[in-house]
Amino acid sequence: MTMPPSLDETAPGPPLEILPGQLCGRLSFPDLFGRAAPVEIEVGIGKGRFLLQQAETRRDVDFLGLEWSLKHLRVAKERAERRGLRNLRLYRADARHVIADLVPDASIARLHVYCPDPWPKKRHRKRRFFVPETVPHLERALAPGGYLHVSTDVREYFEEILEVLASRTGLLAAADPLFTDEAARSGTHYEEKYREEGRAIHRASYQRPAGAARHVGGLPS
Ligand SMILES: C[S@@+](CC[C@H](N)C(=O)[O-])C[C@H]1O[C@@H](n2cnc3c(N)ncnc32)[C@H](O)[C@@H]1O
Repeated sequence: MTMPPSLDETAPGPPLEILPGQLCGRLSFPDLFGRAAPVEIEVGIGKGRFLLQQAETRRDVDFLGLEWSLKHLRVAKERAERRGLRNLRLYRADARHVIADLVPDASIARLHVYCPDPWPKKRHRKRRFFVPETVPHLERALAPGGYLHVSTDVREYFEEILEVLASRTGLLAAADPLFTDEAARSGTHYEEKYREEGRAIHRASYQRPAGAARHVGGLPS
């Protein structure tokens, strides 16, 4: 296997945060990170606990964090700056838009979605991340063999996620060798908080089968 080129840790790096208006059409990850390396995305990073830890320990992978809350993104950015992370970019945006419209086909090695907002009120359900309009783009964005990891403390949302992934995608339930034991699992801020409150965390992992590329519409890659 060819290793991705190392990032120069001493040279001044490109800005950590992608600013509004900076992007035009589909993302180019080699342009964004300055090298060709596997890319992983986390949707709804909160203050970045999981993503920063991954970026720090897996320097041969590039990480894009999507977060809607400006307040949370700022905290994650400050923490990433303190740690001098070069293989990380943060983008304040609606992750549903980014995944559907900006991420090229078959470009992502792993997608992480931990404790997505459950929007418990019935009239707000359409704001959920896992909806029939979005999930086909998760499959489209994943490289063949790529993984999707999901967790939630809300049983009803978990069942809905399993159902919508089964009915709207060809993703298959699969264990990811990188995250097999509990110690290597996500351990996000909210997962820990809910666990301390005695709530169960429901988890699922999926893999995009190797095979023909899937195009779902939107901008061409
Ligand atoms: C319950 S928190 C979970 C944070 C983190 N994943 C964790 O497990 O600690 C959900 C996060 O997703 C963010 N979020 C919700 N909807 C989003 C969207 N459409 N696009 C980007 N971020 C979103 C929220 O601002 C919040 O920070």
